[in-house]
Amino acid sequence: MHIISIINYKGGVGKTTLTANLGAELAFRGRNVLLLDLDPQASLTFSFLRPEYWKLHFEKDRTIKAWFDSFEEPGAPLSLATLIYAPGRVTRSLQNRGSLHLIASHLGLINVDLELATDLGGGSLKQARKRYLRVHRRLSDGIRNDIDPNAYDYLLIDCPPNFNIVTKNAIVASDYLLSPAKPDYLSTLGIDYLLRNLAELVSNYNDYLQLEDSSESADAIAPKMLGVVFTMIQEYGNQPISAQRPYIRQTNDLGVPVFDAYIKANQTVFATAPQDGVPVVLNQYQHRSHASVVESLEALATELEGKVGA
Ligand SMILES: Nc1ncnc2c1ncn2[C@@H]1O[C@H](COP(=O)(O)OP(=O)(O)OP(=O)(O)O)[C@@H](O)[C@H]1O
Ligand SMILES: [Mg+2]
Repeated sequence: MHIISIINYKGGVGKTTLTANLGAELAFRGRNVLLLDLDPQASLTFSFLRPEYWKLHFEKDRTIKAWFDSFEEPGAPLSLATLIYAPGRVTRSLQNRGSLHLIASHLGLINVDLELATDLGGGSLKQARKRYLRVHRRLSDGIRNDIDPNAYDYLLIDCPPNFNIVTKNAIVASDYLLSPAKPDYLSTLGIDYLLRNLAELVSNYNDYLQLEDSSESADAIAPKMLGVVFTMIQEYGNQPISAQRPYIRQTNDLGVPVFDAYIKANQTVFATAPQDGVPVVLNQYQHRSHASVVESLEALATELEGKVGA
């Protein structure tokens, strides 16, 4: 099972759209894919579940918030496996090719970050290090303990647009990172900042591990940046328009890998898909513009599979 976090703390760059469509395309190719929604906005969740259905069957005790909360309560914590759900509409449209399962989020996940931050504080330096590790590896441990690695080819984690402790949990749990970005000035600046924060997290985490007993240092983390995926690309003559090209070039200059594949801009097809419960890449289409968006998503999945050696 390849664990991939979709991260960028800039909001609205297409993280959730990419997670849903990449997951759906991989499932269409016969892969078994688990999606984890780690964003309190729960956009990924509501791309697959109707809000009324979520309220009835998930809100109380079947979301990633309930799982984090269960560590603060007496008794054994919940198992992540009990949260996994196969959304009906997308499962029907996959027609037994592969599978696309989901662990849902909850608007109250925002409070989990505060609770985890509280768990970090106080005590001696040695205790603080231990707590830092325990708090940051909670999701990683949960995945390892609760999810059968043979059941899924991919676990894709849709992260919120921030670098809080829940996001850091995703990074610590990940083999790979993928960062969607819009080709504009502020997004390009954001990538540099993101890379520096990532490096700092990895180095702090591994330093703390080293200071602990040697059995734990085997758990050093090294999430690999697969690259930046540009989203919302406007094309002219099969190429990004000239206004967008400098930002793609600047990102290349940062030394971070950039995917050759990019996601084309198409407000019409992307705006309505979440409401239908089926990602764009799986939808029936009549228009050439929709077909060309699907081709760009297919190219992305092919490139990703090449990079992870699947
Ligand atoms: N390729 C695209 N072309 C046109 N619109 C897009 C494209 N990708 C995403 N969008 C639209 O842009 C908006 C933001 O997308 P999305 O929710 O995927 O971003 P996000 O990075 O997950 O946002 P957040 O940071 O809030 O979680 C949505 O309305 C979505 O429909
Ligand atoms: Mg999102």
